[in-house]
Amino acid sequence: MFVALVQSTVAKGRITSIDVSAAQAVPGVLAVLTHEDAPRLGDVAEELLVLQSDRVQYAGQPVAVVVAETSEVARDAVGRVVVRYDAQRPDVDLRADRDDLYPPEKLMGGFETDSVIGDVDAALAAAPVSVDVTYETPNEHNNPIEMHATVARWDGDVLRMWDANQGPHNLVPVITEAFGITADQLHITSPYVGGAFGSKAFTHVHQLIAGMAAKVTGRTVKVELTRQQMFSLVGHRTPTIQRLRLGALPDGTMTAISHEVVEHTSQNAEFAEQTATATRLMYAAPARRTTHRLAKLDVPAPTIMRAPGEAPGMYALESAVDELAEALGMDPVELRLRNEPERDPERDVPWSTRNLVACLRQGAERFGWADRDPRPGVRADGRWLVGTGVAASTYPTRRRPSQARIEAVPGKPFVVSIDASDIGTGAWTALTQIAADALGVPMDDVDLRIGDSRLPKASGAGGSTGITSWGPAIIAAAQELRDREVPPGGLTVTGSSGPGDEAEQYSSHAFGAHFAEVRVDRDSGEVRVPRMTAVFAAGRIINPTTARSQFLGGMTMGLSMALHEEAVLDATHGHYANHDLAEYHVATNADVGEVDISWVDEVDELHNPLGAKGIGEVGIVGSAAAIGNAYAHATGRRVRDLPLTPDKFFR
Ligand code: MOS
Repeated sequence: MFVALVQSTVAKGRITSIDVSAAQAVPGVLAVLTHEDAPRLGDVAEELLVLQSDRVQYAGQPVAVVVAETSEVARDAVGRVVVRYDAQRPDVDLRADRDDLYPPEKLMGGFETDSVIGDVDAALAAAPVSVDVTYETPNEHNNPIEMHATVARWDGDVLRMWDANQGPHNLVPVITEAFGITADQLHITSPYVGGAFGSKAFTHVHQLIAGMAAKVTGRTVKVELTRQQMFSLVGHRTPTIQRLRLGALPDGTMTAISHEVVEHTSQNAEFAEQTATATRLMYAAPARRTTHRLAKLDVPAPTIMRAPGEAPGMYALESAVDELAEALGMDPVELRLRNEPERDPERDVPWSTRNLVACLRQGAERFGWADRDPRPGVRADGRWLVGTGVAASTYPTRRRPSQARIEAVPGKPFVVSIDASDIGTGAWTALTQIAADALGVPMDDVDLRIGDSRLPKASGAGGSTGITSWGPAIIAAAQELRDREVPPGGLTVTGSSGPGDEAEQYSSHAFGAHFAEVRVDRDSGEVRVPRMTAVFAAGRIINPTTARSQFLGGMTMGLSMALHEEAVLDATHGHYANHDLAEYHVATNADVGEVDISWVDEVDELHNPLGAKGIGEVGIVGSAAAIGNAYAHATGRRVRDLPLTPDKFFR
C-alpha cells in the first residue's frame, strides 16, 4: 500500500476542521488519518509528534495521511482532503538585530555555547591591522539522489521496516518509544543507501507515519517522500549570520579573533549548530572569542548537513582571514602558516597529529600558487576575470561506541557483522578490507553484514566517524578470534571499540588546504571554477579510490554551496519558495572542472588502532571559502553572502 501526505499550507496556527469524506470515497483508498484519529505516539521529540494535535508549526507539516492501493490513488485523494486553518502570520526572518536572540544552553555535540580567552575587545582595539566583516550563509537542503523512503509492516507486535537511513540503531530509541515497543519488537534494515549527508541520520516524521499507516491498515505500506517534500520534512542547514573581527600585528601575527554567530532554530526543536567551534582551534591568537545565538522561528526543524558547523563556520573564518591577508598586504598562505598553533589553543593539549602546514605547502606547490599576482582584479582572459584563492579546512576526529561479531566455521568465509551503514561512502568495501586485513585472509573470505538493527550495535554513519568507530571494533573481534583455536563446529567472537583516553589526552582533527581558480564573466556575472586543488591530512587512507571519491564529493558540495545552493523562505507564507531541483540548484558535472586531490602521508595511531581520521566531511570544509576568495581576487570585490549568483556581481 502507498502513503501520500496532506501538508499544511500555512506555517503557523491551528487546524479548525478537516473533511476527509471525499478522499475516503475514492476507490482504492484504505484509510485517511488525521490528528483526530491517528494512533497516539509515545514520548518523542516535539518535532516528531506527527498527527498528534491541531497545532501547525511550519509550512508543509503533515496534517493528514492517505493510504491507498496505488500511489496515484493516494495522491489523488490527498487533493480531496479539505483542511481549514486558523492561521497566524509566521515569523521566518533571521536578522542579527532581533531582540529575541538567545544563547542555547549547549551546542550540538556538547560544545560550550560561547568561549572567551583573553580580553578580545582590548586586543581588537589595540591591533594595528584589523578586519570587521559579516558573512552570511543561506538555508541549504540536503539533496541525496535517493529520496527518503520507508516500507513498514507489523508482523503481530513486531514492527518490520525497510528504510533509507544512516544507521538502523540510530532510529531504534525513537521508534520503539513512539510505538511503545521494545527493541526486540523492531527490525530495521538499510543495507544500501543512495546518499544521505545528514538528512537520513535521525528519525523524521515519515518513518513514524509509515509505522502508523501500517498499524491502522494491517498492511505493508510504503512512504516515499517527493523531492519537494524533502525541503520541509527532513531538515535543512540553518542559515547563519557571522561577524568576524580579526586583529593582527603588521608581520601577520594574529592578536585577536572574534567570531559571533546568529542562526535559526524552529518552534518545535532546539537545534544549535556549532558554527564557530572550528575557530576555537584554528589559529594561535592570544585573545579569542566565539558566541552562538539562536532565533526561534516558524520553520521546519533544522538538522545536520555535511559538516554541520564547520562548513558554514569555516567559510566565514577562512574568508575573513583572506580579507586580513589583503589588509596586511600579505600572502594568505603565509598568513596561515604564521599563525599555526603548536598545541590546541582551546583545550591546551597536544595534537595527535596536525599537518595543516604540509597540506598548505603541498597544495601551493601542486596548484602553482607561486605564480600568483597578489593584486586583485588585474587578471583577465577576454571577458573573463580570473583569480585564485586558498582556504584551510579542519574536521574533528572522533570514535563512537561500536560492537562487531565474527563467526568462524572451518572451510567457510568469516561472517563479519556490525550495524554499520554505507550511505554511498564505500563502507562495504572498506570494512571488508579492514576485516580481511585483521583476519589475515583475502577479501573473498569475508562475508560482511551491515545495515540491520539486529546486528551488533554500532554508531551511525555521521560526523566522519564510520571508519574510526567500526574499524577498531572489527579489529578487536578479529584479534579475539586469532587468539583462539576454531573448533570443527565453529566459533563466534565479539569485539568492541569506543572513545578512550586519547580523546582527553590529545586534540584530534583532520586538516586540509583548498586552492581554487575562479573565472567571472564581466558581462553576465557568471562564475566558473575551472580548477581546484586540495590536499588533506586525514590519517591512514584505507582505500584510495573510495577516499578520493569522498573528498571529491565534499569539494563538489562546497562548490555547490559557493555557487548555487540557497532556499528562500517566503516572508509572508513561511514556506521554501524554491523546493525542487529546478529552482534549488545543486552542482552538476558541468560545474566541476579539473579537480586535483591528494593527501599527505599521515597515520594517527594515537587516536585509534587503524590510524585513520575520517574523511566524509573535511572535503567540504573550506572549499566554499577558497572559491569565494578566488572570486574576490578575480573581481576585486567581496561578496559576503553565499551563493555567488551572477546578480551579486552587479550590485
Ligand atoms: Mo553527517 S552531517 O555527520 O551525517
